[in-house]
Amino acid sequence: MIILKSKREIDAMDRAGDLLASCHREIAKRIKPGVTTLEIDAFVETYLRKHGATPEQKGYHGYPFATCASVNDVICHGFPNKTKLKQGDIVTIDMVVNLDGWLADSAWSYAVGAISEEARHLLEVTHKSLYLAIEKAVIGNRIGDISHAIQEYAESEGLSVVREFIGHGIGREMHEDPQVPHFGEAGKGPLLKEGMVITIEPMLNTGSHYVKIDEDGWTARTFDGSLSAQYEHTIAITKEGPRILTAQE
Ligand code: MF3
Ligand code: CO
Repeated sequence: MIILKSKREIDAMDRAGDLLASCHREIAKRIKPGVTTLEIDAFVETYLRKHGATPEQKGYHGYPFATCASVNDVICHGFPNKTKLKQGDIVTIDMVVNLDGWLADSAWSYAVGAISEEARHLLEVTHKSLYLAIEKAVIGNRIGDISHAIQEYAESEGLSVVREFIGHGIGREMHEDPQVPHFGEAGKGPLLKEGMVITIEPMLNTGSHYVKIDEDGWTARTFDGSLSAQYEHTIAITKEGPRILTAQE
């Protein structure tokens, strides 16, 4: 069942999204060689609590941290750890913010110092695929229009689209209907209606789309060891068009 949100509810989610976006801007300043993802995680938790919010991921199905920190071949759900980031790494920081009972979800990939041309291309295409998909998030389109826009562009750039992890409805719960795959056919799937709030969160790989999971039961890696990146926004479908609740600008 898809739970439609009122203008006032979307405004509340926008407040959570603004806080999340400001947190990402702070993270961007802190990502550099020598920093650990555990330090970033501690910063995020302190920052959110200082602003009257909580990290929704912590304790979610037993997940132990405020953020997911996914380095290089890690696709998503990486555990923050004490390994120092090094020049040339790419790292995705993903978090869900709970402010006054309303949630927002946004992941962002960061370059650590100078990175390879291959990594730069991956970040650029993954970022652009998210924005091409957001353009399709309008009343009267279908979820498949979003999915197709990502897959078509990613594959035209020689990248692959992860199948196992997808976008979702969001509101008072982290994962609501509908499911939002990042691959599929245009014109298929649920119709987009005013008041729907969804995430779009493409994960693209430089190699094949296959995934393996570490022994910790969470960390998802590319099967072939290739690089993976992700950008995610929380988006409301409105009469005025897609409203990006986690916009960083
Ligand atoms: N933010 C993730 C998503 O896009 C959820 C991470 S799983 C968690 O759905 F358990 F860590 F929360
Ligand atoms: Co999400």
